[in-house]
Amino acid sequence: MSEIYVHGYHPRENERLQDQAGTLVDLLHSDTGYPAGSTVLEAGCGVGSQTVTLAQRSPGARFTSVDISADSIAEAKRKAALAGLTNVEFRHTDIFAMPFGTESFDHVFVCFVLEHLTQPVEALAILNSLLRPGGSITVIEGDHGSAYFYPDSPAARAAIQCQVKLQRKAGGNALVGRQLYPLMIEAGFDAVRVSPRMVYVDSSRPDLVDGFTRRTFTAMIEGIRETAIAACLIEPESFDAGVQDLHRTTEADGVFCYTFFKGVGKKRRRA
Ligand SMILES: C[S@@+](CC[C@H](N)C(=O)[O-])C[C@H]1O[C@@H](n2cnc3c(N)ncnc32)[C@H](O)[C@@H]1O
Repeated sequence: MSEIYVHGYHPRENERLQDQAGTLVDLLHSDTGYPAGSTVLEAGCGVGSQTVTLAQRSPGARFTSVDISADSIAEAKRKAALAGLTNVEFRHTDIFAMPFGTESFDHVFVCFVLEHLTQPVEALAILNSLLRPGGSITVIEGDHGSAYFYPDSPAARAAIQCQVKLQRKAGGNALVGRQLYPLMIEAGFDAVRVSPRMVYVDSSRPDLVDGFTRRTFTAMIEGIRETAIAACLIEPESFDAGVQDLHRTTEADGVFCYTFFKGVGKKRRRA
């Protein structure tokens, strides 16, 4: 992981990840399903926000969900138990020190993790080695450069840029979505296909206004206020004005757009 996990592990961030996952279920997961009897490794499961959806959608598959944060694993276990899941095993481990043998899994799933890694290609190559030949990997990432909105606001763009800079400083990349294809190819995957998934929000979709613009994206930017100011990236007044302008896009005439990228690839079969 990059030295500092930019979003942190506090309860408000856990809630944000949950809101994000809930709002984006169809957009991100409608075409992800695993056959009964197959084994799936979820790398960087966090507090289990995607795990619950994945495991419910593929009840016959067996999931192993891992994360480097013991606290997140504990929360993920709690969430899975609450959802009554019986097809998920959680493990506290680092992607770079996986306790599994090569070719142990039929499928791998990674969501919103590469953006935090200093070595995303190496991580993907490790995950590739854990896949059986012909197995699939699914990678989902955002790209903060894809955020645009009405009314446009230089202050809001400056606040978003703070997140990009902080993530870069911590060794990650908040613009990683656009890079998925070359990263997956470099890590050795075959048949890579990346599809952009745009979230378009206007006031005719109050669920997205609240679940995505307000509680996912703007909440994420609000969450870095103190860190951005402490790092002298921005003055408090400018940051607050930017956040206020992001909230302005949730009004009746406001619009917000953001694009996620979903990449699917295969592990090469032996010649
Ligand atoms: C933004 S969260 C995403 C969590 C979950 N995939 C989701 O979509 O809600 C990123 C997660 O990656 C985990 N992570 C970062 N580096 C890791 C590593 N080297 N090994 C395992 N997990 C890692 C973090 O602990 C965090 O829980």
